[in-house]
Amino acid sequence: MNKYKVTVRTFLEMKKKKDKIAVLTAYDFFTAKILDEIGIDCILVGDSVNMVFYGSKTTLSIGLDQMIYHTKAVSRAVKRCMVVADMPFMSYQTNVSDAVSNAGRFLKEGDAEGVKIEGGLEMIPTIKRMIDVGIPVMGHIGLTPQSIHKFGGFTVQGKEEKTKAYLTQSAKELERAGCFSMVLESMPKDLAKEISESIKIPTIGIGAGPFCDGQVLVVNDILGLFEDFKPKFARRYVELGKEIREACKKYLDDVKSGQFPSEEESYS
Ligand code: KIV
Repeated sequence: MNKYKVTVRTFLEMKKKKDKIAVLTAYDFFTAKILDEIGIDCILVGDSVNMVFYGSKTTLSIGLDQMIYHTKAVSRAVKRCMVVADMPFMSYQTNVSDAVSNAGRFLKEGDAEGVKIEGGLEMIPTIKRMIDVGIPVMGHIGLTPQSIHKFGGFTVQGKEEKTKAYLTQSAKELERAGCFSMVLESMPKDLAKEISESIKIPTIGIGAGPFCDGQVLVVNDILGLFEDFKPKFARRYVELGKEIREACKKYLDDVKSGQFPSEEESYS
């Protein structure tokens, strides 16, 4: 585990040394503290919070202030790992100037150490400007959930020659623009391998197979806390949803039957 503060430089060194980078999402202080303590390299304050925390069907409606609020809670808990915040839909797509000011808020107000933005070639001028002014950027290509309506659903990207070429070219340009890493989401594993081997910055896969330089998953998915749907690529390590249900049911029964509180749980 990285004993020292993980920074953009650590990411690049890890790629060189072929050390796999472990990233998880978190949206609150408690979870972030645990992830930091066990040695996760990077916490992504993902806009997936809109689905797993706020119960929305997509990531689209989360606001900038909400994302900064969650980023602040995560940053307060963290001593060692890197904190990257997802820029929400429409906070960086309209023009470069607004994108840079909004990205700056994550560093100034949220204490993030970088931002993640979705998109390839079309986002290069925005990414360059952010990096010019000192904001580290993690790219994100493949299935970019903010474009779900353009794709017509959560569909695997890069299967046809045209999208494959776009993704390969985008990865190279994101590297050239100065991104310190990039997420590759939902694409064939061989394409992710080809991209990972063609660039010097680390790729962080989600549904992109085992050949990426690191992996990211939504923390609620690995904990069994998002029960509506389990993506093919997610691995559940525990069924916390089930355990929470059982624990709360026991409390409910104890209150109803008068078994809580006991003598020891009462003041005299
Ligand atoms: O919002 C998110 O959680 C993400 C990752 C899963 C890559 O963008």
